Amino acid sequence: MSFAAGQPLYAVVPAAGVGKRMGSAIPKQYLPLAGRAILSHTLGLLLSHPRIDKVVVALGAEDGYFSDLAEAGHPDLIVVSGGAERSDSVRLALAELPEEAWALVHDAARPCLHHDDIDALLAQCGAQGAILASPVRDTMKRANGVGNIDHTVEREALWHALTPQLFPAKALSQALTEHQHNRAITDEASALELCGWTPKLVAGRADNIKVTHPDDLRLAELFLAAARSEQ
Ligand code: CTP
Ligand code: MG
Repeated sequence: MSFAAGQPLYAVVPAAGVGKRMGSAIPKQYLPLAGRAILSHTLGLLLSHPRIDKVVVALGAEDGYFSDLAEAGHPDLIVVSGGAERSDSVRLALAELPEEAWALVHDAARPCLHHDDIDALLAQCGAQGAILASPVRDTMKRANGVGNIDHTVEREALWHALTPQLFPAKALSQALTEHQHNRAITDEASALELCGWTPKLVAGRADNIKVTHPDDLRLAELFLAAARSEQ
């Protein structure tokens, strides 16, 4: 069954990471960006999309920052405790969704998402779900393990997997539960690929970056400023 009008649509936001690669004193989703926490941008964007019914956010057990966000008391927001891995956080959040709902899973650490990317994902989603993605631009090299090139990888069919990723909540929950201890599950699609699904690749905007390293903060700030001046 494809995604269609009338079906409940829940956004699921894994926000229980510690941001090890960012190396900041507080989890990266709470770092300020253009005057607001990264997570505040992300939640605001999802809560204001007219097609999204509810937003479920998964927080870390030690989280002492969430209640300070402007979105914290929003009536369409559901808060749950996340887990040890990103896939655990998503799986735990999915327990809040009605069986017939579709889940639009989006990283807390991608605050530059635009509504038109969500619209494209919803419009192009097929029966086996869909993900936002971007075609690889650079020539790709496979390393030989000691820092030299082993060979050049064919770039033609390679894509970067982004979020949001859109799937029927029940099927996604079953797939994540079945493959719970598989470390290769780094996004929602990979769990369903193991079940034989072939989700659709939907070309997304290049500015939907995941804030991962300190350098990304400046880039994300520029993208947010550009988005504000477009409005
Ligand atoms: N995430 C989560 N639960 C975890 C790990 C990650 O909900 N146990 C969330 C993060 O909060 C983030 C998203 O998954 O919004 C993408 O993960 P990533 O960018 O890797 O964030 P961190 O895991 O926090 O960063 P790092 O890997 O550098 O520690
Ligand atoms: Mg991580």
